[in-house]
Amino acid sequence: MCGIVGAVSERDVQGILLEGLRRLEYRGYDSAGMAVIGGDHSVQRAREVGKVASLAAAMKTNPLAGHLGIAHTRWATHGEPSQINAHPHMSGDRLAIVHNGIIENYQELREELRGEGFEFTSQTDTEVVAHLIEKNYRSLGSLYDSVRAAIARLRGAYALAVVHADEPDHLVVCREGSPLVIGVGIGENFIASDQLALLPVTDRFMFLEEGDIADIRKDGIAILDREGQSVEREITRFEHGADSADKGEYRHFMLKEIYEQPRVIKATMEGRVTNTRVLEQALGTDAENLLENVRHVQIIACGTSYHAGMVARYWIEELAGVPCSVEVASEFRYRKHVIQQDTLFLCISQSGETADTLAALRQAKKAGFRAALAICNVPGSSLVRESDLVIMTQAGPEIGVASTKAFTTQLTALLIFTLALARQNGLPEEQEAEIVKAIHLVPGQVSDVLALDGEIAEMSKAFMDKHHSLFLGRGSQFPVALEGALKLKEISYIHAEAYPAGELKHGPLALVDSEMPVVTVAPNNDLVEKLKSNLEEVRARGGELFVFADKMANVKPDEGIHVMQLPSVHPITAPIVYTVPLQLLSYHVAVLKGTDVDQPRNLAKSVTVE
Ligand code: F6R
Repeated sequence: MCGIVGAVSERDVQGILLEGLRRLEYRGYDSAGMAVIGGDHSVQRAREVGKVASLAAAMKTNPLAGHLGIAHTRWATHGEPSQINAHPHMSGDRLAIVHNGIIENYQELREELRGEGFEFTSQTDTEVVAHLIEKNYRSLGSLYDSVRAAIARLRGAYALAVVHADEPDHLVVCREGSPLVIGVGIGENFIASDQLALLPVTDRFMFLEEGDIADIRKDGIAILDREGQSVEREITRFEHGADSADKGEYRHFMLKEIYEQPRVIKATMEGRVTNTRVLEQALGTDAENLLENVRHVQIIACGTSYHAGMVARYWIEELAGVPCSVEVASEFRYRKHVIQQDTLFLCISQSGETADTLAALRQAKKAGFRAALAICNVPGSSLVRESDLVIMTQAGPEIGVASTKAFTTQLTALLIFTLALARQNGLPEEQEAEIVKAIHLVPGQVSDVLALDGEIAEMSKAFMDKHHSLFLGRGSQFPVALEGALKLKEISYIHAEAYPAGELKHGPLALVDSEMPVVTVAPNNDLVEKLKSNLEEVRARGGELFVFADKMANVKPDEGIHVMQLPSVHPITAPIVYTVPLQLLSYHVAVLKGTDVDQPRNLAKSVTVE
C-alpha cells in the first residue's frame, strides 16, 4: 500500500528515487511523485497521475536536480487518484512529506489545523501531518524535534519521510505500523518501504523498530526509540541476488515467478529435510520445546496465504492428529475467542507486513497462546521480528501482485512443519520417510507441469470471452480451487468462485450452463470417484469442464470434458503441484484479455492498511 523512497547523497538523487519507485510500484501505482531540495535550497516537486513511467516521462522534460529527496508511489486510501492527492505533500513551500499508511485521527487534526489558518489542497490524511510538522517547526526550529512532536499526536499506521528546505542536509523518517528500511551506503544513505527498492545502490540494511524515529544524513544515521532513547539497529546484508527484482527474459514478473517455483521450493526444503526425515532443529533452536505438547493449532492469514493455511489444516489433522482452526486475520482480530490450552498460533504471510495479520499476532501474544510461529518470506519484516519461532520461505522477492511462488513455498514450509509436529505426536518413521520422499519429488513434478505451459495457453482461449467460472476440488484440493479462482479473478477480472465439489448440488449447480466453464482439480486420491460424480452433474447441465487430473484418476476426455494430464503425485503433496497449472491458466487468460498482469487494477501487494 504505497511505497516510499528517499535519499541523501553526494550525487543527484533523481535517478535513484525513480528506480526505487519502479521497484516499489507493486505496492501501489495510481499516482507517483517526488520532491528534491535543489542547490538553491528550495523544494522542487513533480507529481503525476498513473504509473511511475508517467512521472519519469514528465521528469525527462523537467528534471529535478539535488542531493536530498523523497518520492512516493500511491495506492489511494483517502481521496481519489489525482495530481493534488499524489505525494509528496507540502506545507507552505519549504516542507515536503511522503507517507505510507493511514492516519486515523486525521479529521480532527484537520479541523484543528484549519482553525489555525492552515490551508488544505488535497483530500489526503497525509497533508494533515505535513501541516502539523510545519506548525511545530515554527516554534521548535528543528525538523527532527518537529516530527517527534507531531507523531506523538498521530493515531494509526504510518511510515513517514520528511524534508525541509531550511535543513537541506538530512531527512527525518519514522515508522509505526508500516514498514520502513534504511539502506546504508558509503557517503550516502537511503530509506524505502522495502529493501528491493534500494538494491541498485546498497545491499546493507537497517530495519527500524515500531516507534523509531531516525535522522538520516550522508555520513550518519541517528535513531531514537519510542522512549526517546538513542538506539543502534543491526545492519544486515541482503541475501538474494540483486537481479531478483528484474523480469529477465520473461514478459511479466508473474510468469517469471511461476517458473521459479521448482528452484524456490527446493530452496525452502534445503537444510530442513534429509532423505528420510525432517530436521526439527532447522525450524529454530527452540522448536522442539515449543512444538512439544501443542494440542491445537490456530492459523491466521489473509488471501493466498489463508488458502495455504486451509491446505495445512488437512495435513495437520491427518498427519499430526492435532486439531487445527484456520481463520482470515481480518475476522479473527475483531471477535472474541475461546483459546484452547496449548494452542500454537501460526501466522502465514508473504510480506510479513499485512496489517490484519500483524494485528492478530499482537492480540494473540497478549491472549495466552502457547507460542507464535510465523511462516514468512521477508527477512526482517515485522511478523518475523515479533514471532517466537519463524520458518522462512525461500521464494525470494515476489513482485507480481498475484502471489504464486510465495504460495507454493508456504505450502512446502507448512508441510515440513506438519511433519515436525506429527513426529512429536507419534507419526511412524516409515510414514514420515514416505512423505519426505514425496516432498523431494515436488520440484521435478512442478517442472513437468511447467512443460505443459503451451497446452494450458491453448486451453485458456476458452475462457477469454467468459464472464464467470467455477472452480471445484475436494479435500485438500478445495483450497487449491479457491486459490485458482482467486488468481483468475485478480488478474483477468473474470468472476470466479470456488466450491468444494460436494457442495455443487446445494446451490451453485443452478448457475451451470455452456457459458460457465468449470475448472476441476482431480488428482487420484480416495475422493476422486466422488468427484467424478460431481463432474457428471455438471456435464448433464451442459457445462464445459476443464479437468486437471493424473492418469490414475482415469478421467476421460469427452464432449464437454477437456482433460489436462498431470504427473502422478503423492496425495499429500498434490496441492502444491496442482496449484501450478491453475496459475498458468489465469496468467494466459489475463494475457489474452490484455489486462495488467503484474499490477492488476485496484490491488496492491503488501496490504499494510486495514
Ligand atoms: C493474492 C495475494 C493476496 C495476499 C494477501 C496476504 O494473490 O497476493 O491475497 O496473499 O494480501 O498477503 P501476505 O501473504 O503478504 O500477508
